[in-house]
Amino acid sequence: MKKYVIRGGNPLEGEVRVSGGKNAAVAIIPAALLVKGVCIIENVPIVNDVMLLTKIMSEMGAKVSFLDKTTLRVDSTEINTCAAVSELVRKMRASYYLIGALLGRFGKAQVGLPGGCDFGVRPIDYHIRGFESLGATVSIEHGIVNAVAENGIKGTSMSLDFPSVGATINIMMAAVLAQGTTVIENAGKEPHIVDIANFLNAMGAEIRGAGTDTIKIKGVSELHGGRYEIIPDQIEAGTYMVAAAAVGGKVKVSNVIPKHLESISAKLEEIGVTVKEDDDFITVSREPGQILNNVNVKTLPYPGFPTDMQPQIATLLCLANGTSVVTEGIYEHRFKYVDELRRMGAKMNVDGRVCVISGIDHFTGAAVSACDLRAGVALVIAGLCADGMTEISNVHLIERGYEDIIEKLKGLGASIGVIDDEPQTTETVSVSVG
Ligand code: EPZ
Repeated sequence: MKKYVIRGGNPLEGEVRVSGGKNAAVAIIPAALLVKGVCIIENVPIVNDVMLLTKIMSEMGAKVSFLDKTTLRVDSTEINTCAAVSELVRKMRASYYLIGALLGRFGKAQVGLPGGCDFGVRPIDYHIRGFESLGATVSIEHGIVNAVAENGIKGTSMSLDFPSVGATINIMMAAVLAQGTTVIENAGKEPHIVDIANFLNAMGAEIRGAGTDTIKIKGVSELHGGRYEIIPDQIEAGTYMVAAAAVGGKVKVSNVIPKHLESISAKLEEIGVTVKEDDDFITVSREPGQILNNVNVKTLPYPGFPTDMQPQIATLLCLANGTSVVTEGIYEHRFKYVDELRRMGAKMNVDGRVCVISGIDHFTGAAVSACDLRAGVALVIAGLCADGMTEISNVHLIERGYEDIIEKLKGLGASIGVIDDEPQTTETVSVSVG
């Protein structure tokens, strides 16, 4: 099995360039199914979830190819099916975007229920209710979502119970070619929601208000091809900012949109870390041994502190002076990684959505296992700070969302490598992206 091995203690120094947004890419790529024509998508992060999606889309008849390392060409003119039911579909959460895209273009969709990170029940009832409001009949049988709009998709007004990122994006996709106008109230406002709206508008859609809690989608008859560049990944950026704060040193995190990182920058400054913002880069520095203040964090929908940064900031707070409280405002079980951090000496107590953290001097290296994407990268941060060696297994989960993480950390001076302690099997092993 492939593992990361880290010798802790090296301060992080230098510059790291942030890749394109994983959560933007896994929505924009399926959205290309709505387009009768060629989409050229730039700044695509080369991560497992993206590679999986390109495979699924090719199986559906889309012509998908990379023009260079990060530019994807998708031609969905000849899509030959409204079904995506292969076992690949169940391997990631973002598969659900295939429902909205197929429903939007063809008025029907048959898609396997999504998988994704395991931190509690992750239903798609908001998505289904949105599709039904748009005139589709939706049923789930044998793990397959069947959605059909017998009389076509009809624009309507709706309000989400919760500003769900996925439901907002999925309903937007289903509505872009509708007869009439759709209004989504209590919509999510995350940067990647705006990015998908901008992508669709670049292809001829008429979406207004993305980034606010009311999004208006005026149905158009067809979308044309075009070119679009994905925004930088604000969670990847935040992860390197927190790593610099935890390990100590000075790191320039480049190719960012500082506005997307405001809640993370503010929290790091509250903790006592130096954060300097420029046009498209942020520099985070902390003198080795500098005291970190204990603070409280609650994860909220954007522009609140992002849940996808919760394991990372909790890891940093393990090294703060005093007691901190982290409250998970989005998911019911997003503290599974705490047991792994405890193996490295963390003093953390979890009660439901609340984690109370008592500061320690340092982590000690240990053999630990990633339980999901962000939890896994939190273990990497702990290993970079720890006394001694840390070995992390299940790293394929980390590679779902962090492009070139080993090379990027080595470029900052980290002592990190990859081992594979099992003989390679002969056939190509399909990487599960859990
Ligand atoms: C997206 O998931 C991201 N995934 C998640 O990132 C991220 O944590 C989440 O948004 C919140 O920012 C992708 O974009 C692929 P939600 P999504 O719908 O769309 C409940 C990562 O690490 N809910 O905003 O599934 C849900 O259970 C991943 O990159 C319903 O109850 O998030 C959760 O408690 C992890 N019914 C809350 O709402 C629904 O129909 C927020 O979910 C949908 C969601």
